[in-house]
Amino acid sequence: MAAAKLHLHSFSSLLLVISILSSLLVPHTSANNHLSENFYCQTCPNVLSIINTAVLKALKSDARTAASLLRLHFHDCFVNGCDASILLDDTPTFTGEQTAVPNNNSIRGLDVIDKIKEKVESSCAGVVSCADIIAVAARDSVVAAGGPSWNVVLGRRDSTTASQAAANNNIPGPQSSLNQLLSLFSSKGFTARELVALSGGHTIGKARCTTFRSRIYNDTDIDAQFASSLQKQCPRSGGDNNVVPMDPTPTSFDNAYFKDLLVKKGLFHSDQQLFHGGSTDSFVTAYAANPSAFAADFARAMVKMGKLGPLTGTKGEIRKKCGKIN
Ligand code: HEM
Ligand SMILES: *[C@@H]1O[C@H](CO)[C@@H](O)[C@H](O)[C@H]1NC(C)=O
Repeated sequence: MAAAKLHLHSFSSLLLVISILSSLLVPHTSANNHLSENFYCQTCPNVLSIINTAVLKALKSDARTAASLLRLHFHDCFVNGCDASILLDDTPTFTGEQTAVPNNNSIRGLDVIDKIKEKVESSCAGVVSCADIIAVAARDSVVAAGGPSWNVVLGRRDSTTASQAAANNNIPGPQSSLNQLLSLFSSKGFTARELVALSGGHTIGKARCTTFRSRIYNDTDIDAQFASSLQKQCPRSGGDNNVVPMDPTPTSFDNAYFKDLLVKKGLFHSDQQLFHGGSTDSFVTAYAANPSAFAADFARAMVKMGKLGPLTGTKGEIRKKCGKIN
């Protein structure tokens, strides 16, 4: 290696050369630069207020929708990036992500996004992507539920494809182990701490019996009273679609989720894995003790999640209707 011959004083210039070379060789890092907060300033100046008004209206008739819109953004971004691929409806000749195992009979809020898109189209047709609408709606939902705010960068474009296999492989299941969660999130560029912060999304919303049945009948790291009260709502067989709150305050974006984990009241096996004597325990303890540390980390991690693999420039398209390609 030529580097071995270099003296110490030229080491920093070597680093400079390496960083320039790698920025040329790894173009995906620069793709994020196309996203910006003021992307629609000229082309659709009212887009943020149109989305916010529609989100608040939807939450008024069903507060759970805040959770559903947040989850929609997560399930969109983790599957080939935030490209609204999750919104493409199945047709007789096309099988998309909505019927993948983690989404089937489970994702909600598609109708809300469709309605927002219609409103946005009537104000500025063909300009604003469905992927950006999901990202803004997720932020507005968290804020409305009392959680932190963040600036949403914009300029994502919509996919012309969707992949059921990718949805099955990239969205974690409720039986996941800590190692599985760490490795999946790490493959998307997230640290252990960010995994824990993002999991705090489970402070709002509801879950179906089928997603936690095995935990309440088989797990041992569960509070006995908590398990028996859930068993009343989720029998050993039947009642698969009965829903229970994700934490004691399912419409309020607080840190109760983490306090629950400390006393073995995580709803999913995967939730409790974050506080099970392993490497992530300290983050759970910190967020349970300090709600503003959770809020700040959650917001930062959401900004990062929103930048996963976006289609920008001339890639993809701006869908006219979110449920189908143009
Ligand atoms: C860490 C791994 C994760 C696993 C294993 C997981 C799994 C699940 C499962 C099984 C449900 C219930 C689905 C149903 O009953 O139909 C759920 C709901 C939910 N998840 Fe996650 N999730 C994870 C991470 C996240 C992240 C990162 C977010 C957001 C930042 C999130 C937000 C939500 C929300 C808000 C709900 C409730 C949705 C509603 O009420 O409509 N989850 N999750
Ligand atoms: C999705 O749910 C429907 C209705 O419960 C079911 O008939 C179908 O088999 C499920 N699809 C997949 C791919 O699991």
